[in-house]
Amino acid sequence: MSLEQLLAWIPAGHPDEALARQIQFDRLPAHVAIIMDGNGRWAAQRHLPRVEGHRAGIEAVRDTVETGARLGLGVLTLYAFSIENWKRPASEVSTLMLLLKRYLRSELKTLLRNDIRFQVIGRTEELSADVRRELQTGIEGTAQSTGMLFNVALNYGGRAEIVDAARRAMEAGVRPEELDEERFAQFLYTAGQPDPDLLIRTSGEMRVSNYLLWQIAYAEIYVTDTLWPDFRRRHLLEAILAYQKRERRYGGITPARAAIGAQ
Ligand code: FPP
Repeated sequence: MSLEQLLAWIPAGHPDEALARQIQFDRLPAHVAIIMDGNGRWAAQRHLPRVEGHRAGIEAVRDTVETGARLGLGVLTLYAFSIENWKRPASEVSTLMLLLKRYLRSELKTLLRNDIRFQVIGRTEELSADVRRELQTGIEGTAQSTGMLFNVALNYGGRAEIVDAARRAMEAGVRPEELDEERFAQFLYTAGQPDPDLLIRTSGEMRVSNYLLWQIAYAEIYVTDTLWPDFRRRHLLEAILAYQKRERRYGGITPARAAIGAQ
């Protein structure tokens, strides 16, 4: 995908066109991970029940997924439900699961049209049979897609993922002397995927909330005050533009800084 794919989807003269034209397509983040936060606050601002915020959040998911695919991102990972989210009222949990099932059913065609491959990361075995069935339909239905990989983190916890990876490594009979970071990463839910270059969090909170703890080691973090239900193509483009202005150092120094040190 490319600038053309993106522009074909933006009405001529729309303000997003100028943003799209600023993107450097040869420097896109390979993996963007998003903490979708603020649904409850969005609903509260409108004196609506919390679940209405989640319902409105689906539109943001649609727009973000299609923008990511048209941009040509390698991987997009959305945090839909954490292990800790089971503590919410049962009615909110069941609405979230219902919304997810409906989303998958109604969006399968859009995912396929955009050549998107759908995957789930998390302790999916603990989800109810009807949710697992719907997820499986989405995974199998998009298995042949070769474009963006769309991960939904569901019943996900970063520490749980690391524990699960350690267990799997032991079960696979990996000997302690064989274990290094690269080998360990092969047992994570995201095995084979690039680590997120960009982590976006909506609604202004400065927390990582047990999300992709291993994988975000060197991610650039971008926090926006926008509440998730209001997040659209424009916000993703703005986040990527901000990312492209950053200087990434991975714990080292850039040539420019090395030159200052050498003076
Ligand atoms: C955080 O808002 C959001 C969630 C816990 C759920 C996000 C889920 C969706 C948008 C729907 C399903 C997802 C997909 C991928 C189809 P919050 O309720 O914690 O907001 P608050 O902090 O303002 O209360």
